[in-house]
Amino acid sequence: MNEVMKNILTRRSIRAFLNREIPKEELEQIVQAGLYAPSGHNYQTWRFTVVTDRKEIQRLAKIIGEKLGREHYDMYNPQVLLVPSNERENPHGMEDNACALENIFLAAHSFGIGSVWINQLRDICEEEEVRDILTDWGIPENHQVFGMAALGYGKTEPEQKVKKVGIVHYVG
Ligand SMILES: Cc1cc2nc3c(=O)[nH]c(=O)nc-3n(C[C@H](O)[C@H](O)[C@H](O)COP(=O)(O)O)c2cc1C
Repeated sequence: MNEVMKNILTRRSIRAFLNREIPKEELEQIVQAGLYAPSGHNYQTWRFTVVTDRKEIQRLAKIIGEKLGREHYDMYNPQVLLVPSNERENPHGMEDNACALENIFLAAHSFGIGSVWINQLRDICEEEEVRDILTDWGIPENHQVFGMAALGYGKTEPEQKVKKVGIVHYVG
């Protein structure tokens, strides 16, 4: 099996992170992997906001927790929160950003860095307190956030997921 396949098959969502910084060069390559994802019509109307200030990450987590009624919500307390956003008017925005996120997860995994999709902002990114934070982070008003990537070195080895069988059908 080649290295790319091994990387795809061994990636798992990581939900507990060490207090260890991600080297800047690796973080930059992880972001670059997002930029190289496919995008509908090649519009590339996305934007990638990289939050390395953990106080800012927890500022957002606190508001999400309050909005969703979750006590002590900390988004798994990651080292970095990568926030892809896209123009609300782009009909492919969600798909484009999902492609970018998977590239980001796989690139992170190739450096031994764990990641997980954080979905909570999708439905509440227009709430005033949430939007205020996004604005402080420089995310344009006409941009929507669908999913985010929490990144950091994993605390423990994740368990392997059982994959469903019998769901592939070849024709011809
Ligand atoms: C659209 C989407 C939303 C997700 N939202 C969350 C989330 O909010 N929190 C979380 O811990 N995992 C989230 N996940 C991760 C899934 O739970 C995870 O990918 C799935 O359980 C399979 O595990 P694996 O990533 O280790 O293969 C999300 C994944 C996707 C694709």
